[in-house]
Amino acid sequence: MGINERIVTYIKSLYPEMNPVLLHCPQFLGKEKEYLAECIDTKYVSYVGRFVSAMEDKIKEITGAKYAVAMVNGTEALHMALISAGVRFGDEVITQSLTFAATCAAIVHSSASPVFIDVEKNTLGLSPEKLKLFLLNNTRIVNGECINKNTGQIIKAVVPMHTFGHPCQIDVIKNICDEFHLLLIEDSAESLGSYYKGKHTGTFGNAGIFSFNGNKLVTTGGGGMLITDDESIAVKAQYLSTTAKQPHRWEFVHTEVGYNLRMPSINAAVGFAQLEYLQFILDNKRQTAQMYHDFFATQGIQTIHEPKDSQSNYWLNTLMFRNRNERNDFLEYTNANGVQTRPIWTLMHKLDPYKNYQHDDLSVSEYFDDRLVNIPSSVRI
Ligand SMILES: Cc1ncc(COP(=O)(O)O)c(C=O)c1O
Repeated sequence: MGINERIVTYIKSLYPEMNPVLLHCPQFLGKEKEYLAECIDTKYVSYVGRFVSAMEDKIKEITGAKYAVAMVNGTEALHMALISAGVRFGDEVITQSLTFAATCAAIVHSSASPVFIDVEKNTLGLSPEKLKLFLLNNTRIVNGECINKNTGQIIKAVVPMHTFGHPCQIDVIKNICDEFHLLLIEDSAESLGSYYKGKHTGTFGNAGIFSFNGNKLVTTGGGGMLITDDESIAVKAQYLSTTAKQPHRWEFVHTEVGYNLRMPSINAAVGFAQLEYLQFILDNKRQTAQMYHDFFATQGIQTIHEPKDSQSNYWLNTLMFRNRNERNDFLEYTNANGVQTRPIWTLMHKLDPYKNYQHDDLSVSEYFDDRLVNIPSSVRI
């Protein structure tokens, strides 16, 4: 038996009920149907129903954030976080090239321009060293604002991403943001249940966001959440995402161009039911990660482990191959033989909509582009 055949056999043995074995398939193991039936029976299906605030409260309890605002998806939660925190037309926002396109879409939807900085080898997240070096070499502080010397524009915020659920060195990044007068908005879409030095990801900066897309640890079908300790951000995000309508029992007065982005109760019902057994999900995924680690060690293939000082949710397990050819052989074989695997997203600075924005040295991102592959990571029943 060849190595790829052995791997396919092993992965199939972990998920005997799935054919093909998908990358991340939702499992519904709690009161999802009961709560959905409650929405339909009570007719509370829009965002007015009890499950939206129940889910927001549960997320506050899990993360320790003071405020949580449920949205239709993670992309819009990030968009609302950026504009509610003060990102404006023409601003620049630093992020990583190794991310899902939604991070950049939210920045551009906020009328800002992304600037791409590299990730680091240990965490797969934004490199604090390269961030600091870029800021030292390319910016100056004028009247409390960080000005990009190359463009003359204000760099307003940094959006690091906790890749595949592994926390980046967010405390170091936070200190750099403070030094350079930058907002810190965490794209924690993938890291519900992940902690850095005992503190939940998404709670280190001005705001953080989660995604409850169908492929995440906890799903609402589609959904997202903004978390923050800053009351003004929470109030602004809630207002903007609820059509910017002034509260009144019958008058319709909108004071700004609003958005209609609040999560419906019917979606929150599913997510709330899932959050009730989040610990089971996290334990199950941690066990799978350990099993993969042990198995792939016997095959001479490196798995990505949670970084130092952190506890990862192991959203997507990841293999590192020695080169692009090995990576491609593996992708070919597994996808042709009933096991869904995929490389990391095409790097943002190589995509048509983002290729003309500024970027720094991205050699580590390119290194990972040649080598990393995600493998099936659903909760095992
Ligand atoms: C890093 C990252 N940012 C943002 C998002 C956007 O979330 P959503 O799909 O809920 O809009 C996702 C996931 O889908 C993601 O992985």
